[in-house]
Parts: sequence; C-alpha cells; structure tokens
Amino acid sequence: SPMVIRTVPALRRAVEALRARKATVALVPTMGALHDGHVSLVQLARRRAQKVVVSIFVNPTQFAPTEDFGSYPRTLKADLARLTAEKVDLIWNPDVKAMYPDGFATRIVPEGPATAGLEDRFRPHFFGGVATVVGKLFTQVRPDVAIFGEKDFQQLRVVTQMAADLDLGVKVIGSRTVRERDGLAMSSRNVYLSPEERQIAPTLYRAMKESAKRLKAGGDFEAAMEAGRELITAAGFALDYFEARHAGTLGPITSMKEGPVRILVAAKLGTTRLIDNIGV
Ligand code: PAJ
Repeated sequence: SPMVIRTVPALRRAVEALRARKATVALVPTMGALHDGHVSLVQLARRRAQKVVVSIFVNPTQFAPTEDFGSYPRTLKADLARLTAEKVDLIWNPDVKAMYPDGFATRIVPEGPATAGLEDRFRPHFFGGVATVVGKLFTQVRPDVAIFGEKDFQQLRVVTQMAADLDLGVKVIGSRTVRERDGLAMSSRNVYLSPEERQIAPTLYRAMKESAKRLKAGGDFEAAMEAGRELITAAGFALDYFEARHAGTLGPITSMKEGPVRILVAAKLGTTRLIDNIGV
C-alpha cells in the first residue's frame, strides 16, 4: 500500500525517492471524501506520469467562517483503501499545523478575468485560499503535471493562471466531469442532500443541457439562458448564478460567435450549495 506522509521534511525525502531515475511525477490535489470523480483524476495522472502523488487536505483557508469546514466529510480510511486499489505511489496528508504552522502569514491572491465574477461574487475568500494551498502543494511536491477536474471550472482556470504567473513549472491538466447516471455531477458535498433534494439535484444538469440546446439551435442568447434559469428556480433551488462565459477566458459573452461557450451554474438546495458547468 502507498506511503502516507504527514510532514514536509518526510514529503521531501519521499518525493526525492520517487524521482530516482528521473521518473515524472503527477499530483492530484483533493480534500478527501473521495468518489469516482477523484478516482478518474488519479487514473488520468497515471497515464500522464510515471509516479502519482495524491494530496488529501481539507484546506481551512478556502472556507468562510459560515461554511462547512467543520462538517466537511472526512473518510480517510475509505480514501486510503481506494487509493491503494489505484496503486497510487504516495499520499500527502498533512494536518492543519503542518500546512499552516503558527505564524503563517502569506497569501497568494489571484486577480484578473478568471476570478472576476461567478464563484468570486459569492465566495470572495475562496480563490485566495485555493491559490495559496495549491501554490504550497506545488512547491512542496514539485510535480511535473497536476490534474484538476473541470467540475470546478473556474478553479481550474485560476490554478492554471497561478502556475504560469509564478513560474512554478507545473503543467496543469483538466479532466472531464464524472456524473451519476441521472446527470448529477459527483461531489463530496452530495452526501448533504436529503433523499428529496437528491431527486431534484440533477435539474442543474438538465437546465444547462436545455440552454445549450437552444444556444446551439441559434435561439436568442439571453432567452436561451433564461430558460435554464427558470427550470432551476421552478425546481426549488435558490440560484446564485447561471451564466454563459467564454470557455477560455471566462469573460462575459453574448453570442455563440464569441465562443467557445461554457455554461456555469451555482445554486443552493436547502443548505447545500452545488456547482456545475458544461461546454456548449
Ligand atoms: P475537491 O473538491 O476534493 O476536488 C479535488 C479535485 O477533484 C478537483 O480538481 C475537482 O475539480 C475534482 N473533482 C471533483 N468532483 C469531480 C467530478 N465529479 N468529476 C471530475 N473531477 C472532479 O477542489 C478541491 O478539492 C480543492 O479546492 C483543492 C483543489 C484540493 C484545494 O484545496
């Protein structure tokens, strides 16, 4: 079974050993509570590098005080079993003090179009926390490649930009969203849904598909997006946003000609906030 590492010095030694004979290293950052979406990233990592490192760390700096850091699902034993079955080479599982020792006082704050709007409007603390921890993970592990899910599309763009801007020498690779059979994107937070909410949750995906179909058919752009919004609010969600953006820059867009187009959504069902996106 793979080595589980909990301190930075031990991590350095273990990665050094992995790199013997110039083996390439892929990193898959996660917060644990692993599902088939995470496992698909590990499998892509295996195809892109000779050694695979998975980090499991519930990062406090990306949660607002009102959010679910304390109750975020933690299933370490099951996670380790899944990663063992995937033949992962090394698991990096620091505690909060190992990642943020007393006196820690530095933050990476992403700027620019990738952070403008969408998630940033509703979770202003979020991308600073993600960029800071991913910047640390990249400098700790120094992987050749890192795999991130398209499920968190804006996060994928922010991390790609940060790695390039800071010359971290890590190639960031996006991986397709894994869905349940009814279309709901897999997420560690889906366990929060009541059985009734779980029935409603796939409406997000259906609504994006509906808007995408109308956009592709050449319908009025704003009307196509409004149709998706209506499906979501009619199903009982409180909508944060349902927007079409340029898939590359994430900048605003008002016609298919300006594409490639990505539809991105965030909405709350009861107290559970879900996000998803698709390409048009
Ligand atoms: P977490 O939510 O655990 O997700 C870890 C990685 O799995 C992310 O890159 C995410 O996009 C990907 N992922 C989640 N659900 C997926 C799905 N259904 N299909 C494919 N990939 C999926 O995202 C984070 O953790 C954190 O912000 C992190 C990057 C680890 C920094 O703390």
